[in-house]
Amino acid sequence: MNKLDMENHNRLLDSLNRVKENFLIKNPNSFARWQKAKEVMPGGNTRTVLHYEPFPLAVDRGVGTHLYSLDNDCYLDFLGEYSAGLYGHSNSKILSAIKGAIDFGLVLGAPNKWEGLLAEELCARFNSIDRVRFTNSGTEANLMAIGAARAFTGRDKVMVFDGSYHGGVLYFKDNPSPVNAPYNIIKTQYNEVARTVELIKENATDLAAVLVEPMLGSGGCIPASIEFLKSIRNATHESGVCLIFDEVMTSRSSSGGLQELLQINPDITTLGKYLGGGASFGAFGGRSDIMSLWDPTAPDALAHAGTFNNNTISMSAGFIGLTEVFTKTVARDLFNKGENFKATLNELCKQHDVNLQVTGVGSILGLHVRDGAILHPPKYSNFELNKLKLIHLEMSLKGFLFAQRGYMTLNIEMEDTHLEQFANAFEDVIVSYKDIFSNRI
Ligand SMILES: Cc1ncc(COP(=O)(O)O)c(C=O)c1O
Repeated sequence: MNKLDMENHNRLLDSLNRVKENFLIKNPNSFARWQKAKEVMPGGNTRTVLHYEPFPLAVDRGVGTHLYSLDNDCYLDFLGEYSAGLYGHSNSKILSAIKGAIDFGLVLGAPNKWEGLLAEELCARFNSIDRVRFTNSGTEANLMAIGAARAFTGRDKVMVFDGSYHGGVLYFKDNPSPVNAPYNIIKTQYNEVARTVELIKENATDLAAVLVEPMLGSGGCIPASIEFLKSIRNATHESGVCLIFDEVMTSRSSSGGLQELLQINPDITTLGKYLGGGASFGAFGGRSDIMSLWDPTAPDALAHAGTFNNNTISMSAGFIGLTEVFTKTVARDLFNKGENFKATLNELCKQHDVNLQVTGVGSILGLHVRDGAILHPPKYSNFELNKLKLIHLEMSLKGFLFAQRGYMTLNIEMEDTHLEQFANAFEDVIVSYKDIFSNRI
């Protein structure tokens, strides 16, 4: 490290410490909640992704596109519950769907009027989905999709990509997590066409599925190249391998998901997040010959369980959300809004010559502390991670919430003024620390 780099490094640490102190001064109730929760939950946490340094801001309530902290400060919500918050916090149609469901009683323990309607809507929207089944989460949807592929092909292995996230037990970053489901995994690099195709062909006889996000979400909002996905589609087709698109995050890219924009039909698609209208949700669906494995009227049918799979809150809110709120036009507008917002932020980064960029697809965006093309998840140094922390906490102090790792989403309640406010605050932050953010070590 040269003298200038060292100075910037020290300045970054000093700034981060100062910002953490300000964060504590602004959020005493969040801090107190965290201290108390630590007595009964490990690290005061029950969902790892919601923990960050120095401690997580706790939310009291959400209204429209805003969140109010336990300290009663108002924030613009750019996290959007990791993409499940597409409808904002109080969309009247979603709320009345949920209230309507509750009025008819809870835990009915039988098929209800909503599940078939939501299934019909999903099959109509997604070209590749002939039949669909519901789960409680995206994680479960992926587990069931893998199960379907393994049973259908009679093969064992599953191919995934470095940095991909398909759920709490399907996380493929760096070393294998000991809590991962014990599948026979082949892991390769995202966006590497030749090696991926070669591996599919080499393993064809035992490969059940390729499980891929058409944009790496948790891995940094890194879009797949069309060539990469098309090559996988061709190679899996030729080798009789099931191609599973995990669209748990990306399905919001259009009314028919990112697959519609890419014009690629996977064999199975997994869904989740906002499609339950803001209530717990997951789904897997695809080719009827594969999905018929789960037909309980067929001999030797596979079992698919889940007490809350068809709960009326998720089913009705999901159905009303799709049919009355997230129409084709709304989906297209949200996608374009996200693309324009990304371009605005990237323009600011260029204008101020900082080593930052925003990646993503449509309304799902990832802030990176590197410029240049990003094709797979960067291995960030501590210096770089501290830059992300600094931006995140500074933006939080200015009233904007998103994930510390740089992940953000837009929701349909956001207006242009909200995006302008964010862009102005972001510009303030990068200008205040221009030396640090333009440093390229
Ligand atoms: C691409 C992807 N797949 C699966 C999941 C898991 O979904 P859930 O949190 O509902 O289990 C997520 C969650 O963030 C995700 O981003």
